Amino acid sequence: EEVIAGSGGDEIIELLTKLFVAPGDSMIDCPPTFGMYEFCARISEAQLIPVERHDDWEIDIDATTAEIERTGAKILFIASPNNPTGNLLPDEDARAILDTGIVLVVDETYYEFCGETSAGLLDEYENLVVLRSFSKWAGIAGLRVGYAIGSELIVDHLMTIKQPYNLNIAAESAALAALQHQEKLLARIDTLTAERRRVEAVIDELDGITYSPSTANFLLMRFDRFTGDEAYELFARRGIFARKFSGRRLENSIRVSVGTPPQNDLVIDGLHDLN
Ligand SMILES: Cc1ncc(COP(=O)(O)O)c(C=O)c1O
Repeated sequence: EEVIAGSGGDEIIELLTKLFVAPGDSMIDCPPTFGMYEFCARISEAQLIPVERHDDWEIDIDATTAEIERTGAKILFIASPNNPTGNLLPDEDARAILDTGIVLVVDETYYEFCGETSAGLLDEYENLVVLRSFSKWAGIAGLRVGYAIGSELIVDHLMTIKQPYNLNIAAESAALAALQHQEKLLARIDTLTAERRRVEAVIDELDGITYSPSTANFLLMRFDRFTGDEAYELFARRGIFARKFSGRRLENSIRVSVGTPPQNDLVIDGLHDLN
């Protein structure tokens, strides 16, 4: 009664927005963050209110709670770890937001890489939803399986508006197989974390490149002497597809996923070229 599965976490983000946002309602977003929240706000014809994160990418709690009170916004999505900055939402910040009464969706798509969760607050707060995905840890993004954990009240309402056959049989089989082989799949995360640390150690030695401390399977890199576009092009020529961004705060940054050791070697070569 307290869990709902969806065709990827994305479907659940869309369902939650549909459930809580009517045209003209305010929806707060805390950029830089995952673009789907803004996308869903737009298709629900919400009025989007950006509350920028601090320079260390933490949520500006005072400004966020003030905007919640001012606008009467009904739902807020916060990714933890955040995409693309990699930082977590501390429980203390989650509580401050939940105490306003808004529905807080903590998007834990990258949970398995960090082991930190807001799920411990579920018993205390009926307005908390925790979102998870099989896309990253189980590596089945193309099969589209995600799920949310929340109060029976919210899950009940989501069940009434979701399509009855939203999860196809192939996706369901893959998710069940992933659960059956959970231990083996999760063991790969240790390798990935060690590889992230290896890339970080290289950047630590380079001039003009920094990264945001990350708890996820990617690194947000920032260049003093290059734009994100230039770094993107250089990596692309080496067959590495990074994520670049528009907007003032990330125009000198790219996000790079941590791959296999040979793939990370290519990234490291590219970083030396950029130095
Ligand atoms: C923060 C965040 N939430 C949700 C998703 C969507 O995941 P899914 O593949 O389960 O739809 C992503 C995908 O990259 C993401 O980064």
